[in-house]
Order: sequence, then C-alpha cells, then structure tokens
Amino acid sequence: MAVYEHIDSAFIHGGINGDKTTGAVNVPIYQTSTYEQKSLGENTGWEYSRTGNPTRAALEALIAELEGGTAGFAFASGMAAITAVLSLFQSGDKILISSNVYGGTFRVLDKVFRHFRIGYSIEDTTDLEALEQKITDDVKAILIESPANPLLTVTDIGGVAEIAKKHHILSIVDNTFMTPYLQRPIKLGADIVIHSGTKYLGGHSDVVSGLVVVNNEELAEKIAFIQNSTGGVLAPFDSFLLIRGIKTLGVRLDRHVENAEKAALFLQSHEGVKNVYYPGLPGAQGYEINKRQAKNGGVMISFELVETYDIKKFFSALQFIALAESLGGVESLVCHPASMTHAAIPYEIRQKVGITDGLIRLSIGIENIEDILADLDRAIKESKR
Ligand SMILES: Cc1ncc(COP(=O)(O)O)c(C=O)c1O
Repeated sequence: MAVYEHIDSAFIHGGINGDKTTGAVNVPIYQTSTYEQKSLGENTGWEYSRTGNPTRAALEALIAELEGGTAGFAFASGMAAITAVLSLFQSGDKILISSNVYGGTFRVLDKVFRHFRIGYSIEDTTDLEALEQKITDDVKAILIESPANPLLTVTDIGGVAEIAKKHHILSIVDNTFMTPYLQRPIKLGADIVIHSGTKYLGGHSDVVSGLVVVNNEELAEKIAFIQNSTGGVLAPFDSFLLIRGIKTLGVRLDRHVENAEKAALFLQSHEGVKNVYYPGLPGAQGYEINKRQAKNGGVMISFELVETYDIKKFFSALQFIALAESLGGVESLVCHPASMTHAAIPYEIRQKVGITDGLIRLSIGIENIEDILADLDRAIKESKR
C-alpha cells in the first residue's frame, strides 16, 4: 500500500520499485528474451519477454498507478499503442475522432484500419450535443485529444465519457500533451488512456515509446492479448529510460509550464504574431473547461505570424530552438504541422479543421526563459519581409 498521497511522489516511488534480490534502488534492465523454467509446466512467472518482462512490467505498473487505471501496457511507440487500441474493433465498427488529432492517428485509421473495414469520421468533439447526434449503431468509440494536436483545442473529457457511457461505447483519450501530472482522463470517466511516451514521459528526446492504460479488467485482458499477439512491445532498456524519465516528470513540467505561460503571453503581445493558441490563456477556446479538467494549460503553444512576416525565414532565423518533429523534451522544439506532423492529413481537411500553412507549433523546453524569448523575438523580427 502506497504511503504517499501526491502524484509527484508516485513518479519516484510508484509501480514496482527497486530490486528485491539485490536491494538496488532502481529496477534493473532485464535484458533477456526468455526465462528458464523450473520444470515442465512450472515457470517463474516469466516465460518470454514479448509476453512479459520485469522491467517493462515495472513501467506498466507505474503508468497504471499514475493514471489511476486497472492496468498499463508499454509499446514500442505511441503509434504501436494506438494500433493496439484500434485492434479492439472489428470490421463494420466506426470510431469518431477529434477534428485535430496527431497526423499519424488519422493516417493509421485512413490508410491501415480502413483496409479492415474499420471506419472513422472526424468530428468537432468540442460540441458535445452535435457529437452525440453522430452516434449511430456502428459507432463503437470516441477518440479524443485534449488539448488536441496542433491547435490545442480543448474537449470536455468528462462530457465525452458520459456520452460514451450512455451509448455503451468506449471513450479513448490520447493524454500525450498533458501527462497524468496535468490531467487524469480515467478519473474524469474515460475508459482508455493512450500516451506517446516519446514526449514528456521520456522527457529527453532519447526514446520512442507508447503506453496504454485501461479502466477495467475486461479491457486489460483484451489489450494484454493484443499486445502479446501483435508483439509491438517496448524493449527492456527503453522501459528503463521511461521509468527514469518519469521520476523527474513533476519538476520538469513545473518548469516547462512556467516557461510556456510566459512564452504564450510574450507571443500574444508581439506585433509580428497573430492567433496564439494556448489553453492557459484567458479567452482561449475551452479555457474554462481546461481549467476544470487539467492542472494548467500545459506546454504546447501554436501561433501564426502576421502576413508581412515570412514563416520560412522565421524557422531559419531561430538559433537554438530546433526545427524538429516531436515535442516534450527538455529542449525547445518548433515544427510546421502542415508539412511535418500533420502532412498525412489531406490539404482540404487541414484547411477545414484550421491547420493552416502558416501555423507554427512550439514545444517550450526548460532552458532559461529569457533565452527562449530572445530566440523567438530575434527570429520573428528577422522574418519581416
Ligand atoms: C498526441 C500524439 N499522439 C501519438 C503520437 C505518436 O507517438 P509516437 O511518435 O511515439 O509513435 C504523437 C507523436 O507525435 C502525438 O503527438
């Protein structure tokens, strides 16, 4: 039984801790594919590392505890985690997804699961009444991100979960942008939480990983079966890296968010910037809902430059904020969703959902904020036509 009450203590002491055999305070990296059986039909509890590995199991117990779920599962990437969850569905089923989700989530539905006749439709999940109208007999789940990638649109997670329950379908939340430190979807009523562990949980841009947490035994059995059958599991060393990253999640995010709040205000008041998207800014879409369901506005900010500024020049003028896919590392990263993270979404759909060619997405790091603001300011000024 845990003797701590706060999640930032669980980051360090949660899940399965240390090693009983040696007293090591860290979970060892069990770099093994198989385990010797005691005798025929009698094993140690471990049989084969696709099915289960002690380092991965420690991470899986940790994320389940942090999200307040029944069981956790670790995968080789966020997309492998999403693929495992989508494998719950059958031919003829349909999933409603938020109008901005990560481009890869759209792509796997549009280009992979479509072949298995699992359908999807893109909906404005911020409008709960309209969303409920879209639930037909074939709809089996609602998959949302809040705040969503890349426009940081906020959806009422509890509201979606309630609608899903009423219609006996699943509510699935990709909680990558918030992590359990800032938002706990299962506590808000969701059935399944997904993470790209590649982002804040790992936190250092050095490991690709994915996690799933479910809120009941039936789903836990199904995902365990899919995980073992399809095999996209996280390696022992990468599991160790994620456990190590999670230990500092609280302190890292405190600094990330402090920096992001300052950067959002700075961008909002900059003459070269229009349309700052950050759920922590009063007046932002979903500001009140986000305040209710999350600890703060998180770290991600998107914005557009005014027309007289050149976006290409802006990216080249940045000195240390790196133009790169991904987010959530200690270093600040910037990306152009239309040609990078969301390029898999056709142009017409991008325009419809507001992912313009001028949109810039920032993942604010934990560098000194004065340096971050100076880099942004210099690049914006130098990009003036
Ligand atoms: C919100 C979100 N979900 C899922 C993914 C996919 O994760 P991964 O890149 O670890 O496969 C990403 C990747 O950027 C993401 O931003």
